[in-house]
Amino acid sequence: MSTDGAATRHRPREQWTGQTGFILSAIGSAVGLGNIWRFPGVAYDNGGGAFLVPYLVALLTAGIPILLLDYAVGHRFRGSAPAAFRRLWRRLEALGWFQVMISFVIAVYYAAVVAWALSFFVYSFDLRWGDDPAGFFTGTYLQLADVGGADSWVTLDFVPAVLVPLVLVWVVTLVVLGAGVAKGVERANVVFIPLLVVAFSILVVRSLTLDGAADGLNALFTPNWSALGDPNVWIAAYAQIFFSLSVAFGIMITYSSYRRRRSNLTSPGLVVAFANSSFEILAGIGVFAALGFLAHQQGIGVGELEGLTGPILSFVTFPAIVSQMPAGPLFGALFFGSLVIAGFTSLLSILQVVSAAFQEKFGIDRRQASLRVGVVAAVVSVLGFSTTTGLIALDTIDNWANNVGIVASAVLTCVLVVWVRREAPALRYHLNTVSTVQVGRWWYAAVGVVVPAVLGYMLISRIVTLAVDGYEGYASWYLGVFGWGTIVFLVVGAAVLTATRWRVDPDRYDAWPPFPPGPAGGSAGSKNSEVSR
Ligand code: ALA
Repeated sequence: MSTDGAATRHRPREQWTGQTGFILSAIGSAVGLGNIWRFPGVAYDNGGGAFLVPYLVALLTAGIPILLLDYAVGHRFRGSAPAAFRRLWRRLEALGWFQVMISFVIAVYYAAVVAWALSFFVYSFDLRWGDDPAGFFTGTYLQLADVGGADSWVTLDFVPAVLVPLVLVWVVTLVVLGAGVAKGVERANVVFIPLLVVAFSILVVRSLTLDGAADGLNALFTPNWSALGDPNVWIAAYAQIFFSLSVAFGIMITYSSYRRRRSNLTSPGLVVAFANSSFEILAGIGVFAALGFLAHQQGIGVGELEGLTGPILSFVTFPAIVSQMPAGPLFGALFFGSLVIAGFTSLLSILQVVSAAFQEKFGIDRRQASLRVGVVAAVVSVLGFSTTTGLIALDTIDNWANNVGIVASAVLTCVLVVWVRREAPALRYHLNTVSTVQVGRWWYAAVGVVVPAVLGYMLISRIVTLAVDGYEGYASWYLGVFGWGTIVFLVVGAAVLTATRWRVDPDRYDAWPPFPPGPAGGSAGSKNSEVSR
């Protein structure tokens, strides 16, 4: 890798307009499909009320510590993940690109789920799924080919009902990204996040007033304490927290890099983390109260209902609820509208990771970056997920990107930054110098010991399980290409992008405040005031 000949002209760094814009955007990133679509089912499957114990432990021991680590790296080194990690230690640039690649992969399938939610928002008004929501989702809507099991396959048979909203999602996303951090991403979040909170609160209140709501809440929250002895329940809690808080795949590094030099980091971090978890628990309450209603209507127990997890919960079971309740179209519109908003604001943040990295490495402006990166991502997204085999591809790639990719990224980050490079004291000093709430020494134990140990164990056990048992019975060649192949793609992509020449020198940069602090405690003379501002 060389920066020889790289131009040295830096563009002034984009900035949030202030703390509120940053907090709303970070909440917009964290609150996403993971909260509404994933959390209720994961909690139900993993011990119900008892799941809250590993969930909170995971939040406090790994989620918040890594969130603060991401903030510190992004803010201290003021760059996208590759530039920030490179400034921390030249050899870490590849880790930054690994995170960018994870974001790219997640964005291409995440957009597809936002597109489904958009379709179902429209379908809510005339209850288009009729009295067979399952047949409608997989048959009429997705037109799923008869694949799966040993017959896993890919086709390029496009489904117009998915293709059209998917293209729309991409166009809007790219326009917002092209408008910039303050005028695009922040504005969208400032409008959409309050709207999401209002819409979802109405939905939860309505759910709680339905017949049978209490049964649903009992089903979700009755603790199965024996689940706490199962390591898989703990693994599920840590995995949920990572995806949900948007940590370890470049988002929070990128977002904090747009904060001004003297900006409080720790209290906004705590606000974001607790807002995200509160929304998650609110989603669990709203979804399970509604499930209690469905079970009540059918005269069965909540546990006897089918489709309480994954895409089926949102796109089959929820439409069934909507069909059976008074003012169902309004309820459906609130649910799917919330899913669209939550997913869209998260998608913006996931793609901003990729766009920012390309802007910096290739010296292009945000419009060019969103056009180039966005068009490639949109084409991959359309080819992969608007076809009759899109669902199993999505399921497989999501499983590997999250459970292997993000977890590996978190473990690598902590081991390399804390143990190999020994940067934790400088990062903690940085957080404490700019913030009001001080980070104690407990943070070293969290990022230096708990995360590598728990997540390292989790990573190895997931890899062994996937290698031995496969996944969902899909053919091994298919898992080789779309599961393990995803990991190969992340690694090869990271290596190639690391080896590519920088068009704008990333190394003309001094971290501020200097560490260890000098006698005057003042700022180091910066070599480039534009980047250091
Ligand atoms: N944090 C985002 C979510 O929960 C990615 O969906």
